[in-house]
Amino acid sequence: MEKITNWKKYNQLQILNEDLSNVVNKYNNRETLVVSSKGSLERFVLSDKLQKRELKFSIFDEFTPEPDINYLTNILNKKDFSSFTNILSIGGGSTIDVAKFIIMNSFEHYIDRENNRFVLKKLKSAKKTLPISHITVPTTCGTGSEATPFATLWDKNLKEKYSFQTNYSTPKLIIHCPSCILKCPQKILIQSSLDTLSHTLECMWNKKFSNSFLIPIVDSLKSTFKFLNAIAVGTDLKPHINSMQQASTLAGCLINQTKTASAHSISYPFTTYFGIPHGIACSFTLPEILRLNMSHSNSVFYNTIAKEVGFLDALNMADHIEKLLINLNVGYYFDDIFLTQDWTSLLKEMSNPSRMLNNIINFNEKDILKIVSKSLVKLSNK
Ligand SMILES: [Fe+2]
Repeated sequence: MEKITNWKKYNQLQILNEDLSNVVNKYNNRETLVVSSKGSLERFVLSDKLQKRELKFSIFDEFTPEPDINYLTNILNKKDFSSFTNILSIGGGSTIDVAKFIIMNSFEHYIDRENNRFVLKKLKSAKKTLPISHITVPTTCGTGSEATPFATLWDKNLKEKYSFQTNYSTPKLIIHCPSCILKCPQKILIQSSLDTLSHTLECMWNKKFSNSFLIPIVDSLKSTFKFLNAIAVGTDLKPHINSMQQASTLAGCLINQTKTASAHSISYPFTTYFGIPHGIACSFTLPEILRLNMSHSNSVFYNTIAKEVGFLDALNMADHIEKLLINLNVGYYFDDIFLTQDWTSLLKEMSNPSRMLNNIINFNEKDILKIVSKSLVKLSNK
């Protein structure tokens, strides 16, 4: 795989290969706030060290996966984090996004409400002279959040999704720690690497696609397929972890340039209304979206990329993704949906203009109905 540093878009990102224990030792001081979920603190033995009073840093763990904006805003109104110099986030995309949200609200911005919506507003004068430095240790391999300024939060009461960004919210330093991935539960590895697959394909069929993305797309797809294939057949993941971590960050860089498209647009109501984890919701439609995009646009382009990755053509790649989704037991998440069909009333919400309009062709609600129906039928024939 091409070295990350060889890709010019990466020059703004600092990436280190380092074990988490070294990072924890390095930032074990009172100026650091560690943002990590209770589960991660347990998994990486930080809870133990905390009980033994070996840790000097403060810890923030008051959030859940797909973090709730009402809950977080309440906490931020009560606590001031602006005295910290560093935030060390250890976890998946939700953790990294919570860390970004804390930094935004501790520097130049604050959260307000307008017309029943949360709005990020700029302060007249910043709380600090420099933003808090964000060092992140992604413990999954998929969200790409480490490479973007976006913080995604959810209003679980009103079933709405928020994405905030500032010009200072991209993490300053990314630590790739292979042993963290080895400790990650397999279902989270599947979800997060499927998210990487989705980010890379969403860049491929994006209106903002540029030829400079070709090599990163092919590199990212090669590594992601190797990793997912290894999970599906149950072989040793160790040899594939480093390239998968790079693929994940690379995919994050790609969507930082193009933003996501149709697969993500369709995914959001599945997450907010049915609780389908993000990586599953944004990947189960990929084969059908690829086929539909191909039939309406330049199929030579898709075939060229698929051949570079190692497939016969793009249709062969779509078939392979479909088999992978079945072998990875993705259908399990949709058991309730197979029975109810409730999703058909959410077609309008699946067409989120800020994402859907990035797709190379414009899908209408009829197209979305077709994409989701066909995808669910394939998954139900497991
Ligand atoms: Fe995603």
